[in-house]
Amino acid sequence: MNYDIKNPSLSEAGALRIEYAATEMPVLRLLQERFAREKPLEGIRIGACLHVTTETANLMQVLVAGGASVALCASNPLSTQDDAAAWLAVELGIPVFAIKGEDNDTYYRHINAVLDTAPNITMDDGADLVSTLHTSRRELLPQVLGGSEETTTGVIRLRSLERQGQLQYPVIAVNDASTKHLFDNRYGTGQSTVDGIIRATNLLIAGKRFVVCGYGWCGRGVAMRARGLGAHVIVTEVDPLRALEAVMDGYQVMALAEAASRGDIFVTLTGDVAVLRREHFAVMRDGAVLANSGHFDVEIDLPALRSLARSSRRLRPSLDEFTLADGRRLYLLGEGRLVNLAAAEGHPASVMDMSFANQALSCAHLAANAKTLEKRVYPVPERIDKEIARLKLEAMGVTIDTLTPQQEDYLASWELGT
Ligand SMILES: NC(=O)c1ccc[n+]([C@@H]2O[C@H](COP(=O)([O-])OP(=O)(O)OC[C@H]3O[C@@H](n4cnc5c(N)ncnc54)[C@H](O)[C@@H]3O)[C@@H](O)[C@H]2O)c1
Repeated sequence: MNYDIKNPSLSEAGALRIEYAATEMPVLRLLQERFAREKPLEGIRIGACLHVTTETANLMQVLVAGGASVALCASNPLSTQDDAAAWLAVELGIPVFAIKGEDNDTYYRHINAVLDTAPNITMDDGADLVSTLHTSRRELLPQVLGGSEETTTGVIRLRSLERQGQLQYPVIAVNDASTKHLFDNRYGTGQSTVDGIIRATNLLIAGKRFVVCGYGWCGRGVAMRARGLGAHVIVTEVDPLRALEAVMDGYQVMALAEAASRGDIFVTLTGDVAVLRREHFAVMRDGAVLANSGHFDVEIDLPALRSLARSSRRLRPSLDEFTLADGRRLYLLGEGRLVNLAAAEGHPASVMDMSFANQALSCAHLAANAKTLEKRVYPVPERIDKEIARLKLEAMGVTIDTLTPQQEDYLASWELGT
C-alpha cells in the first residue's frame, strides 16, 4: 500500500474518534448520501493537503463516495492526528502521507507524493500544493482542472498569483464563503485556540492580560472566548476599521509596543509576518506566553527569539521555555505553529461540517464546470453557501421564516416610500 504514516495499528483508535466526529457533521453525512447516488466526482483524481484530523477523515469519505480517487498529505507538520491518518490509509484505503512532527523535508516529500498521483483537482489549506505545482512540478499543470482553498492565508497567496498573471487554473476560495469564515474562523478558531493554550499550559485564563494581535475573523473569535473566561483582553491592529470595531466591542486597543510590556498571554492571528518580534520580546514580562494561531509559523519571529535566549528547554509537550540574557523567561507554545492544531485538536467537528461541505460541493462544481471556468480565483457560488446554511439549520432543528409575496414585491420595488 502506498502511504507514509506513523503506525497503521492506530487505525482502530482512529475509527472510534472519526465515528464520533461524524455525529456532529450532519451536512457532510447528507452530502455523502447524495454523492454516493449521483457520483459527481466519478473518474476525478483529487490531491488534498489538509490538516489530517478526524473531521478531514469524514470529508475524505464524502469525496470517495462521490467517485473520486483521493491522495492526502498534511498542511502542517504538527497538525496530523496519527490515528486518523492510520484509519484513512488502512480502512478507507487512500494514499496518506502525514506524520505528526514530520520535519520540513518530509513535509515537502509528502506534498510531492500527493502530486505524484497527478491530481485533476487540488484541495489546499494554505496553498502549498498550488505553489509547489506552480514552481517545481509545472509538468503536472495541464491535467489540473481546478482547485479549492480552505484558509485566508492560502487565498491571499492565490490572489497574489492571479494578480501577477501566473495562476494556471481556476481556484475556488472556500475560505471566503459565509458558511466558512463566519463560523470556522470565528467560532472554530475562537474556541480551539483557547483550548490549545489551556492544554499546553493549564494556566488559569481568568484575570490574565490576554493580547490578541489581529482582529479579523479569527481574532474576533479568540477575543470573545478569552473574555468569556475572565481575561482582560487587549487587541492590537493595523487596520483602523477593525481597531475601531474592537474598541466598540469593548476591548482595550493599543499599539503592540505598548501591549508588549503588559500582556501575560499573546496570540497572533494576522496572516502577517514578524508580528511579535525582538523589540517586543525585549520588554515582555517574565513568564509571558506566546502563541500563534495564524496559518504559518512566521507571525512570531522565532529566529529573533532564539537569538535572544541564553537557553531553552521543553517543559511540557507543547511548551518551550526561552530564558533571556536578563533571566526573564518566555514560553512559546506549539513551536509557534497553529496552537489549536499543534496543542489541541483543531476545530470542533460541528464547524468543520460547514467548511468541508463547502469543499465537497466546490469540488463537484469544479468537476462539472471546468471547461467554462477561467484561470481565476472564484468565490463559492452563493447557491452553495445558502444551501449549506439551510441544511445546517435543518440539522439543528431551527426553522426560519420565508418572505410573503407582498414582502417580496416590497423588497424588489422602489415606488413605495413614506
Ligand atoms: N488556527 C486556525 O485553525 C485557523 C483557521 C482559519 C484561519 N486561520 C489563519 O489565521 C490567520 C487570520 O485569518 P483571518 O480569517 O482572521 O484573517 P483576516 O484577514 O480576517 O484578519 C487578519 C487581521 O490581522 C490584521 N493584521 C495584519 N497585520 C497585522 C499586524 N502586524 N498587527 C496586528 N494586526 C494585523 C489585519 O488588519 C486583519 O484585521 C490567517 O493566516 C488564516 O489563514 C487559522
